[in-house]
Amino acid sequence: MTHPVDLPAWQALTHDFQRTRNQHMRELFAQDPQRAERYWLEVGEMVLDYSKNRIDDTVLAHLIELAQQSGLQERIGAMFGGEKINLTEQRAVLHTALRNRSNTPVYEDGENVMPQVNAVLAKMGRFADAVRGGRWTGYTGQAITDVVNIGIGGSDLGPLMMCSALKPYGHERLSMHFVSNVDGTQLRGVLEKVRPETTLFVIASKTFTTQETLTNARTAREWFLRDAGEADIAKHFVAVSTNHEAVAAFGIDTEHMFEFWDWVGGRYSLWSAIGLPIMLYLGETHFVRMLEGAHLMDQHFAHTPFERNMPVILALLGIWYSNFYGASTHVIAPYDQNLHRFPKFVQQLDMESNGKQVQADGTPVATTTGPIIWGETGINGQHAFFQLMHQGTHLTPADLIVSLEKRSNLPGHHEILLSNAIAQAEAFMRGKTAEEARAELLAAGMGEAEAQALIPHKTFSGNRPTNMILLEKIDPFNMGALVALYEHKVFVQGVVWGINSFDQWGVELGKQLAKTVLAELTGEMDAQAHDASTMRLIKRYRRANCETDGTCHLLD
Ligand code: F6P
Repeated sequence: MTHPVDLPAWQALTHDFQRTRNQHMRELFAQDPQRAERYWLEVGEMVLDYSKNRIDDTVLAHLIELAQQSGLQERIGAMFGGEKINLTEQRAVLHTALRNRSNTPVYEDGENVMPQVNAVLAKMGRFADAVRGGRWTGYTGQAITDVVNIGIGGSDLGPLMMCSALKPYGHERLSMHFVSNVDGTQLRGVLEKVRPETTLFVIASKTFTTQETLTNARTAREWFLRDAGEADIAKHFVAVSTNHEAVAAFGIDTEHMFEFWDWVGGRYSLWSAIGLPIMLYLGETHFVRMLEGAHLMDQHFAHTPFERNMPVILALLGIWYSNFYGASTHVIAPYDQNLHRFPKFVQQLDMESNGKQVQADGTPVATTTGPIIWGETGINGQHAFFQLMHQGTHLTPADLIVSLEKRSNLPGHHEILLSNAIAQAEAFMRGKTAEEARAELLAAGMGEAEAQALIPHKTFSGNRPTNMILLEKIDPFNMGALVALYEHKVFVQGVVWGINSFDQWGVELGKQLAKTVLAELTGEMDAQAHDASTMRLIKRYRRANCETDGTCHLLD
């Protein structure tokens, strides 16, 4: 398999990097009055201003060539066309079919998947409508007031993020709760707030074998059965999964199971039945609007030339910083409180997809791959970690995401929020020269000697890249488009790096070892051959807990 470093475009970019690395964006803006206009893209109600990046037209052209030489167009066709591009699991990758609002046939193994996609969507719609309308009642005949989603990773983060982003669209009677952590304090905290007779549990697990989810689900069922009978479970527990047998074995009638398929990756699954909590909270119409927003981005991605293609441009900029500037992280900073879960969502999407060390054919990669994704609401980040982004020694490219629509009707708040987002992007780009710092200090009445001592601390190198993503408003349609934008960005980067973005073998080793360690911690099994540190940790735990577990006699 070709390594990206062997492509002619990569060589050209290596030269570009040497040529441009000392250029300052201030100069680039000064030289080109059209820069902001030219490095600006619009899709639907979303804008990407990428002018505050360390690029010029030549760099951009070579990045586009890199995408072309990586065979991106062909890979896009393969993904949308249902080819088994997830090679290690021999699976197609068809989350785009889940939001294929044109309803044109999409084939997987020769079968059009659209009828089953539409059937599950309709079943979700009927169920959500009944719950929201108060016709689906609990075992005492009362309407549902609380929905508890029990799931982890992709079976948690997407619905959690969307429900919090779209809170203003939520049903007023319904409170949404999300339990992912097997640390019992999370489930207990939720169970203390809800009543069994008005609570609906959604057990969400693609595999229905995930230890954390099944443990939480069993505990929730035991809690429920303290007040209700076995026959009442049907009104209060539904499952979302690909695994009928395991759902039935757990005791949930598969009539109350919402199905999806192995061609939907966990971190790409919020569009599927995994999105049931979203539909319960927002209603079918808004859920479909979310699918429409994603579909718009899919169409844009599949059919727009790379130089005007938003996910492609975002992806290539990321590659420019990761692989040429050596930036190892990427910050997601939404200037919106309801988007506070968005960085965590993108973190799983990107890092579980592109945290890979071998190419799709199993040979080691020749470049760094997926960056570390982190972030927080921008305004809170400004008072926490932005210091490092402004003056630290790491280059930390960032996406700033803002809503143009005022998000609350509290006077003055949105303007302050927006002014901060725009000013931060300007500050990252411009920085402050020593001369500017000196002039400021002297103007404030400071003496020359004192000013000289402070100048190095008050100087900002600037030249720090940001993308500004503007949404007309945070609504279901735009959120659909925004998530699809990031999904496709991750895909493009995976294609350029030649990796499989759709498996996640890296999470398996820990799961496997935890099974042995669990048996050892509980005293079911003697501690086996581990390294000295692991042995010591296991023994220390057993000593601390043997009295409550009644296993002290088993200790050495
Ligand atoms: O362990 C990682 C992972 O497999 C994720 O990829 C997935 O989203 C999560 O666990 C949950 O898996 P499941 O939906 O099968 O419970």
